[in-house]
Amino acid sequence: MSGTRGKFNSRIGFILAAAGSAVGLGNIWGFPTQAAENGGAAFVVMYLLLAFCLAYPAFMAELIIGRHGQANAVESLKKISTNNVQRKFAFVVGFGGILCAGLLMSFYAIVAGWMVAFTIEPITTVVGADSASTWLTTHGTQRNLLFTLIFTALTIFIISRGVENGIERWSKRLMPALVVLLVSLAIYVLTLEGATDGLKAYLIPDTSRLLEPELIVSALGQAFFSLSLGTSVIIIYGSYVGKNENLVSLGASVTLIDVFIAFLAGLLIVPAMYVAQAQGVEIFRDGVLLSGDTLVLTVLPALFDTMGNGGIIVSFAFFLLLSIASLTSSISMLEAPVSYTVERFGVGRNKATLIMGAIIFTVSCIIIFNFSSLFGFVISLTTEYGQPIIGMLCCIFVGWIWQRSSLLNELKNGNEQIEYSLFWKIWPWYTKLVCPVAIALVFINSL
Ligand code: ALA
Repeated sequence: MSGTRGKFNSRIGFILAAAGSAVGLGNIWGFPTQAAENGGAAFVVMYLLLAFCLAYPAFMAELIIGRHGQANAVESLKKISTNNVQRKFAFVVGFGGILCAGLLMSFYAIVAGWMVAFTIEPITTVVGADSASTWLTTHGTQRNLLFTLIFTALTIFIISRGVENGIERWSKRLMPALVVLLVSLAIYVLTLEGATDGLKAYLIPDTSRLLEPELIVSALGQAFFSLSLGTSVIIIYGSYVGKNENLVSLGASVTLIDVFIAFLAGLLIVPAMYVAQAQGVEIFRDGVLLSGDTLVLTVLPALFDTMGNGGIIVSFAFFLLLSIASLTSSISMLEAPVSYTVERFGVGRNKATLIMGAIIFTVSCIIIFNFSSLFGFVISLTTEYGQPIIGMLCCIFVGWIWQRSSLLNELKNGNEQIEYSLFWKIWPWYTKLVCPVAIALVFINSL
């Protein structure tokens, strides 16, 4: 511990927590369904390219800002500012990121609540409570309110316990469970009839689509969403990393795990869609793939129904997987405003967690009561606008405001030889020029 601040106790603790933040609905739901909609492997190739060439450098920028600052996002950014204008800019970027994390959690908790409800449904089915099963899987205000509350309460419980006993301990428990569930489900689905067609669709690229603007924009948005960039989450996790750690390899490990799990999830979801089709379940309408939520909440449950008793276990395991992935991500989203409240206003962690959790839950309730007008709007506001803009501004901070010698000194902590590495030759100018311009171009294109 440094003072009253929390700190990750081990390298693996940080890797699993940051990978937990990264691996979420974005990987297991978003990535495979977007890949299926955007030319299969063409999307996968573009995603890998953008994840390593744009998202990883931006991820490093946020991680280094946090480790240097050893404080919440606003304070960390202020520490590298040298005049008043820069400090104001630091506040806008840091606070903007925290706001983005809170908004992200407000819709994320709703979707995660659906995952929890769908996890319980196989149990109510087994005990013969059919009306409960129908209620759990039917879109409705009461169900959404209850399960958003349950999910938010779980997140509050973990965050109130702090960095070591909450975030680190639970990431170490949940992440291995997630990988075991994912691999077991993928192996099982790949043995079923129709899976090979799905594998082909997923792994053979339709190269004619590789440079489609829509595909590139979706792949970049997905990479940013997945690595939780532009939400100040990585800044705050970085601030809990010790000065003896090698940040370059830490960041690379998290990016690799994130990409690997997204890829693995594709090996489960895309073949599962084609297995469902082989069982007579509709996955295309008028030649167009059904939307992501229909695929996950309608097509896959329909597939599980065709599997008899085994399907009940598979359905339970699948939605448990999605619930766990959501929880390891939502804890990082709540940590961003909580750490700010604790450090800025001197409020105790328990109280700050409850206050922030309650505010975010209230926003979720507003979204639930105005679902058709607000749900899509908040998602697009945070993921299409907030995250790329804040992520780009963090790169500008590191590239243009932070003094190069101070940046190098920070990176030397835990990596004495960094000055002579390829990373130091490429990354600084990359973050200064390539990342902001590329993110801006993709963002403008998406408008
Ligand atoms: N990084 C989180 C996800 O991929 C938000 O779901």
